[in-house]
Amino acid sequence: MTKTIKAIRGMNDVLPTDISLYQHVETVLAQILFNYGFNEIRTPLIECTHLFKRAIGEDTDIINREMYNFNDRHGEGITLRPEGTAGCVRAGIEHSLFYNQEQRLWYMGPMFRYERPQKGRYRQFYQIGSEVFGLKGPDIDAELIIMTARCWKILGIDNHVQLEINSIGSIETRKNYHHILVNMLEKNIKKLDNDSKRRIYSNPIRILDSKNPSMQALLDDMPSLIDYLDNASREHFTELCRLLDLAGVSYHINQRLVRGLDYYNNTVFEWITNSLGSQGAICAGGRYDYLVKLLGGPDIPAVGCAIGLERLILLVRSVFPLLKTQKVVDIYLISSGQCAKNSMLTFAEYLRNQLPEFKIMNHFGGGNFSAQFARANKLAARLVLALGENEVADHQCTIKDLSNGIQKTVSQYHAAGTLRALLTNTPEKKNKIYD
Ligand code: HAM
Repeated sequence: MTKTIKAIRGMNDVLPTDISLYQHVETVLAQILFNYGFNEIRTPLIECTHLFKRAIGEDTDIINREMYNFNDRHGEGITLRPEGTAGCVRAGIEHSLFYNQEQRLWYMGPMFRYERPQKGRYRQFYQIGSEVFGLKGPDIDAELIIMTARCWKILGIDNHVQLEINSIGSIETRKNYHHILVNMLEKNIKKLDNDSKRRIYSNPIRILDSKNPSMQALLDDMPSLIDYLDNASREHFTELCRLLDLAGVSYHINQRLVRGLDYYNNTVFEWITNSLGSQGAICAGGRYDYLVKLLGGPDIPAVGCAIGLERLILLVRSVFPLLKTQKVVDIYLISSGQCAKNSMLTFAEYLRNQLPEFKIMNHFGGGNFSAQFARANKLAARLVLALGENEVADHQCTIKDLSNGIQKTVSQYHAAGTLRALLTNTPEKKNKIYD
């Protein structure tokens, strides 16, 4: 027997049974982004490897072990994008989007990271990201967080997520703190786990968000980065907290939150949930005021975040386990006799012109009327439109409502109006995701 070919580990198909939920969530988020003045940008799935190395930082997990790198036919280093911010900044610089103007950009698409797959962690996953360029105050950080809070509220999951925020200060702040931290860690070198020993000189700040409980206990006795913030960073953070309080967005200040990408400064945040096991971050981001300049653009501040779409869908599903995820067939056309069969195709085209918002399907594959009705029932069709030889001769058709069995014969001229009325007048028949 021929061996079947499977999808690559950690890369998932989204099947028709799930697509309505994806589309619903994507539509809600796109609408909210529009509502806040964001414009969509689409960038390539692959970029030069240098871009990510420079943007994300050489000593990060993403660069060290998670990138899909390959050489093209000319030997140029290419990478499947592990995240969207670097490509967005690259495109903004390349197309001069950042000169003397503020930009609010959003994107959606697959990202690739060679991580160990588990629930909520995949090697191909979708992000919906939003990036704001040219604004440096804490007010835009607050608005971005308020916007994400709105997303959770509209999706009905706001009681299942918590916001964690922190400030990692300016580069200067981190340099000062770096020395203090390395000093303290050196004194405890024997107690460090292997990961932390590896990071102590290359990226000691990342040790702060170690998930190892013994490392966390050790860090409890060490000074916090937040205590070393310079005045400007402290004021930025205090004002952000004040604005979130004012907006009624609750948060927890997590002094260990430093994020896994090196481009951040000052504000960092994550929305986390306890409902998904260890992969609890559904959205994460922060300020990255140095990145545009680092990648060769003007010296402009920026802030952004990205939502992990699969994790968000998992959470929506865990909160609403009875979600309907597939759109039902609204109108199923059946026919009996050659003449009726011939006119079914053209009549369905006419109906699709009149009723483009509904799902309209013809019955193919033969069978008598009762077999065709059985097929309509199996598809959970809402209405059946039957064409028999006599009806076609009289320019009529029969419409049957499968929810109550009521049927009536109407002229073909009035069919579209009758169908629309039946499909829109009864509230339980609306194609809604949430009941
Ligand atoms: P990140 O924290 O690496 O940040 O990813 C953002 C979100 O993508 C995570 O919170 C999570 O929901 C989702 N995610 C990450 N890795 C995986 C994975 N392997 N499987 C499933 N979902 C995953 C960034 O990527 C930044 N570019 C965010 C940002 C935008 N910062 C500023 N602007």
